[in-house]
Amino acid sequence: MRSAKGHNGPCRRGEIRMRLIARSRLGLRAVALTTGLAISGTSALPVFSQDVQSAAVVVRGDQPGAVINRNIYGHFAEHLGRCIYEGIWVGEDSSIPNTRGIRNDVLAALKELNVPVLRWPGGCFADEYHWKDGIGPRQKRPKIINTHWGGVVENNHFGTHEFLDLCELLGAEPYICGNVGSGSVQEMMEWVEYMTSDADSPLANLRRQNGREKPWRVGFFGVGNESWGCGGNMRPEYYADQFRRYNTFVKNYSGNRVYRIACGSNGDDLNWTEVLMRQAGRQMNGLSLHYYTLPTGQWNRKGSATDFDESQWHSTLRHTLRMDELITKHAEIMDRHDPRKRVGLVVDEWGTWYDVEPGTNPGFLYQQNTLRDALVAALNFHIFQRHADRVVMANIAQTINVLQAMVLTDKEKMLRTPTYHVFEMFKMHQGAVSLPVEVQAPAYALDGQQIPAVSASASRQASGDVSLSLVNTHPQHAARIACKLTGLTPKSVSGRVLTAPEINAHNTFAAPESVQPRPFEGPRLSDDGLQAELPPRSVVMLELR
Ligand code: AHR
Repeated sequence: MRSAKGHNGPCRRGEIRMRLIARSRLGLRAVALTTGLAISGTSALPVFSQDVQSAAVVVRGDQPGAVINRNIYGHFAEHLGRCIYEGIWVGEDSSIPNTRGIRNDVLAALKELNVPVLRWPGGCFADEYHWKDGIGPRQKRPKIINTHWGGVVENNHFGTHEFLDLCELLGAEPYICGNVGSGSVQEMMEWVEYMTSDADSPLANLRRQNGREKPWRVGFFGVGNESWGCGGNMRPEYYADQFRRYNTFVKNYSGNRVYRIACGSNGDDLNWTEVLMRQAGRQMNGLSLHYYTLPTGQWNRKGSATDFDESQWHSTLRHTLRMDELITKHAEIMDRHDPRKRVGLVVDEWGTWYDVEPGTNPGFLYQQNTLRDALVAALNFHIFQRHADRVVMANIAQTINVLQAMVLTDKEKMLRTPTYHVFEMFKMHQGAVSLPVEVQAPAYALDGQQIPAVSASASRQASGDVSLSLVNTHPQHAARIACKLTGLTPKSVSGRVLTAPEINAHNTFAAPESVQPRPFEGPRLSDDGLQAELPPRSVVMLELR
C-alpha cells in the first residue's frame, strides 16, 4: 500500500518547490503580472496602514481580448479515495437517490455549475487503468487493487459507460486520459474505437452488445498523465517519441474529432515544454501543465486545510499567484515554436493540496475547504482568463471528496464548499470575451513577502453584459474600488459576495451553508465609472448591464 507521499509526482515536485521558495523576487514578478503593475522589487507596492484602502481599476471595454474558453471551468474526477465511489457512484441499488447509479444530489449540484468538461479516470490511476476491466455486466467485472491510491479494492463498477453517461447527464464534454505507462498502443487504439466508432466492427459491436448503440462523442483525449513521474518516470525526449507513437493510433472515427493532449510539465520544468514542443508540437493539439498550491511549499508537511494562521493564508495565496509566472514562461516557449497559438495550454490539474484530514486514509487525499480555497480558485481563474489566448482548458483537482473539491459527501449527506460557490459565481465568464483590466492596488505584506491586495478580471457576454470579478486578499482591511470603464456605458450594477468572519470558515455537514454567496450591497455607477467597497477576505462578482 502506498500513500500519497510515496507517489512519484509529489516527491519530484517537492524538490522543485523548495528551490522556488527561495526565489522570492520571481514570485513578486508574478504578482506584478497578475495586477498589470510593473514591479521589479520588494518595495514597489505601498503597504496597507488603514482599515480601508483604495485601489484603482480600469476595465478596457474598448479593447476586447480573446474569448475565455468555457473549458477553463473544467473538472477532474479520478478513481481516488471517495471521488468516484461514494462521491459520484453509489450504484443503482443504493438507498441514496440516484440516476442509473449516479447520485442525484451531486448531479444537481454540478449541473448548477455548467460543468463544461470532465477529465477521467486519472491522474496517476489512468496509467494503471485497463479499460476492458470496466465494461460489460458489473458483477462480472474484475476486482483490482488501486495500488496508487490507498491500496483499496476497485470493483470497476464505474467504467466507460458509466462515465460517459455521467457526462451526458451533466451536459459536459468527456476528456479521457489514456494509459501510456502500463498500457499498450493497441489497448489505447481500441478504447477510442470502442467509444466513438459507428462501423460494423468488432469493437463497435462489443459496445452495442454492452448496451450502447450509438457511439459517443469524445472530444478530448490525453495521451498519458504525468509521464515524468507516476506515469512512467520518462525523460521528455523518450516521452515525446512515445506520444508520437501512441497518438498515431488515436483515430478519428465516424466524424468524431479528437483533440489530443500531450502530457506536459511538472510546474516549472521548462525543459519538458521545450522538448515536447520541439519534438512533438506538430502532432499535438494541447499540452498540459500541472501545478498545485501548497501552503508551506513542502510536500512532506503541506499544512492543514482548516487549522492555519494568517501566515499560511498569505503564503497560500502567494503560492497560488505563481501560476501566472508559470503560464507566462511555458507560453513563451510555446510562442517560439507555435507563434500562431495552435497548440493550447491545458492546465489539467490545479488547486490546493493540504495534509489529509486527521483520521482519514492518507491515500484518499480528503481535505476540508475554507474561504481560503475560494480565494485560491478566484485568483487562478483571473490568471487563466488573463492568458485566454493560450490557456484553453483547466481542470480543478478534484470534483468530489478529493483535494480542492466542489462537493463533500458523507453517506447520504452532501455539502457545497466555498470553492463550489466561486465556480457558480464565475460561470458568467464562461465563453465570454475577456476584457483587459488594470489594477493599481496596495500590497498586502506579511513575513517579508507581499502580494497585491486586489485582483480583478472582466469579460463581456454576447448580450453586451459585463461581468467583473474582484478579490480582496487582505484578511483585515476592506478595499475601496474606483473603477473606470472605457468603452462601456452600463445602466445598472448588481452583485454577490462570498466572505465569512474567519479566514478558515468552512461548511460542515452540521452547518452546510455557513459560507455561501450573499447579495453585495453598495456598488454604484456614476459618471466616473463604478465604485464599490470590497469587504476584507472576499470574492465579489458584479454584473454590469
Ligand atoms: O490529483 C491527484 C494526483 O496528483 C493525480 O493523480 C496526479 O496526476 C497528480 O500527481
